[in-house]
Amino acid sequence: MSYNQIIYTTAPSPAIDPSLTSGTFRLRTVPRPENVPARKVLVRVHYLSLDPAMRQWLTAKRSYIEPVKIGDVMRGQSIAQVVAVGSELRSKFEVGDWVTAYSGWQEYAVLGENAVEKVVIPPGGRPTDALSVLGMTGLTAYFGMLEVGQPRAGDTVVVSGAAGATGMVAGQIAKIKGAKRVVGLAGGRDKCDFLVKELGFDAAIDYKAPDWRKQLKEATPEYIDVYFDNVGGDILDACLARAARDSRFVICGAISQYNAAKPQGPTSFMNVISQRVTMKGFIVFDFAKQYPTALRDLASWLSQGKLKRKEHITPGGLRSAPKALVDLYGGANTGKMMIEVAPVSEALGAKSKL
Ligand SMILES: NC(=O)c1ccc[n+]([C@@H]2O[C@H](COP(=O)([O-])OP(=O)(O)OC[C@H]3O[C@@H](n4cnc5c(N)ncnc54)[C@H](OP(=O)(O)O)[C@@H]3O)[C@@H](O)[C@H]2O)c1
Repeated sequence: MSYNQIIYTTAPSPAIDPSLTSGTFRLRTVPRPENVPARKVLVRVHYLSLDPAMRQWLTAKRSYIEPVKIGDVMRGQSIAQVVAVGSELRSKFEVGDWVTAYSGWQEYAVLGENAVEKVVIPPGGRPTDALSVLGMTGLTAYFGMLEVGQPRAGDTVVVSGAAGATGMVAGQIAKIKGAKRVVGLAGGRDKCDFLVKELGFDAAIDYKAPDWRKQLKEATPEYIDVYFDNVGGDILDACLARAARDSRFVICGAISQYNAAKPQGPTSFMNVISQRVTMKGFIVFDFAKQYPTALRDLASWLSQGKLKRKEHITPGGLRSAPKALVDLYGGANTGKMMIEVAPVSEALGAKSKL
């Protein structure tokens, strides 16, 4: 039996080219291993996470993580099912277990125990939450908002990329923690309606509307105490112009600049001085020791209905990943973007009932 992998073959210049024949990636078919080494498991990938940082991973520059090397399977996290267990891991994993896996972009993967973690589904949860609200993006929102942003009762909190996987959770956490006013920025009316009507944001601004800057001013009459930035560029600049005295600017991401040949910094920079702004970047991995506490909080808010979420699952199997990644930068998703590599209906045994 064989399976497919997606290999990183050509550096983007600067945008990703999704063609699997002439673009950034190629499809490769390899044989499925007959025997699993003693301290490994073989997993079948069902849902693959797509993340804006993937563009950064393809740039051979100093960063928080090594770039993916040309010729390697594209890096990525997934929800997978264990289909075979090496002889020394049988006390830890069973065939049929569901795991989050650092599998990369491939249909099957042979992984060590540190690259897989069993999925725990709380009441009211579903397995794909482990890539979303109870996974990396939920944790990013949690630590970015609480450890870096530190919202206080009475604060005005603004979140950009608010209808995406990280933004939707960040804004709701600010509300849970008693922020007076939570404002989201997102692309399009439908996303703005989702923020206000489904997630309980106080206001949402469509940054694609011509008067978005005026709307931002009107939505922040007491200026901005916490700004959670997912996008950088003009939106960061406009929020900096609305910074309140002693405000905290959480620099989580800068998606508007990831595909730019020459990234743009903020021009309202002098407000950092006049308003005593603290601007701090962070990487979610910095908080790894606190993940269990964060996951307990997130799971309990989810179970109590205080935290809502949405996912955008693209069908079409592994080969649809490059195009869907390009679509992620174009804002195709509301909520967490994933690829359905294999449907759950094809999973093994009784434990496939997730
Ligand atoms: N620091 C960390 O440890 C860490 C960890 C995870 C993620 N991140 C960062 O967090 C951000 C969000 O990631 P995510 O996984 O939750 O993705 P996401 O928000 O679910 O998806 C990306 C969204 O970005 C928006 N976008 C794209 N181009 C834009 C532009 N030019 N201006 C404004 N918005 C734009 C799109 O929504 P619209 O339709 O609204 O444009 C798109 O849906 C990214 O910047 C990512 O790199 C950081």
